[in-house]
Amino acid sequence: MSFRHLRNSRVSRLFLISFIFFFTYFPGLVFSAVVTLSSIEIFTTHEWLRATPTVYFRCSGDNKTLLPDVKKKHVLYVFKGEESWQPLTEFIGRKCKRCGFYEEDSILSDDIFDEWELCPSDFTAPDGNYVHFKEKEFNATLLCPECLPFTNVTISAPEDNHKEKGMHTGVIILLTILVSTVVVVGAVGGYKYWQKRKREQDQARFLKLFEEGDDLEDELGLGTMI
Ligand SMILES: *[C@@H]1O[C@H](CO)[C@@H](O)[C@H](O)[C@H]1NC(C)=O
Ligand SMILES: *[C@@H]1O[C@H](CO)[C@@H](O)[C@H](O)[C@H]1NC(C)=O
Repeated sequence: MSFRHLRNSRVSRLFLISFIFFFTYFPGLVFSAVVTLSSIEIFTTHEWLRATPTVYFRCSGDNKTLLPDVKKKHVLYVFKGEESWQPLTEFIGRKCKRCGFYEEDSILSDDIFDEWELCPSDFTAPDGNYVHFKEKEFNATLLCPECLPFTNVTISAPEDNHKEKGMHTGVIILLTILVSTVVVVGAVGGYKYWQKRKREQDQARFLKLFEEGDDLEDELGLGTMI
């Protein structure tokens, strides 16, 4: 195996190890969790022309999630989380999403039950429940058990900041180690290559010197004298 090959495989192994390290110690960066609806009760409907409302949930950037069962006011609809239209949405990373419950309107723009920022840290122990209640509109319970490990570390703001700071420091340290390793490996490789080239050049010059020496001998006729 040539040195170049060796160096490449070493570098790629280093990257692999770094990535594993990275995602093991900073899972917040690849956090993903689904949110399901566990119950909803609506207190009103906005549509006068149709007898039954068409209620849906949507987060900005996502598709509509129609709630086909929700047709009557003041009825508590309870779901298992496995219905065909579940889940409601999915969090990628720690970022909140702007979501809401809406009602389709046949003439005007759709009516809003409520629209708010839904965050992974809203879901509380022990089950990862989150109740969103709006007076005279609806009461809904959302479920996200996968959000819980995330919630636990974001209980208070100072702790949150501390964690984030720790994470940034971790990332900086990791990047520094990575970059310096690559630089060192590159420098060592470069130096070895330069040494090899120099040795070859020296050898070539040495040989040339010999040849020239021979020529000189011939020219002076020293060969015949000996
Ligand atoms: C929205 O629905 C379309 C068609 O069903 C699908 O191709 C697309 O991936 C969906 N987008 C999201 C964000 O789920
Ligand atoms: C909303 O629904 C939840 C779950 O069904 C219930 O525990 C809570 O008391 C309700 N809140 C209101 C204000 O109705």
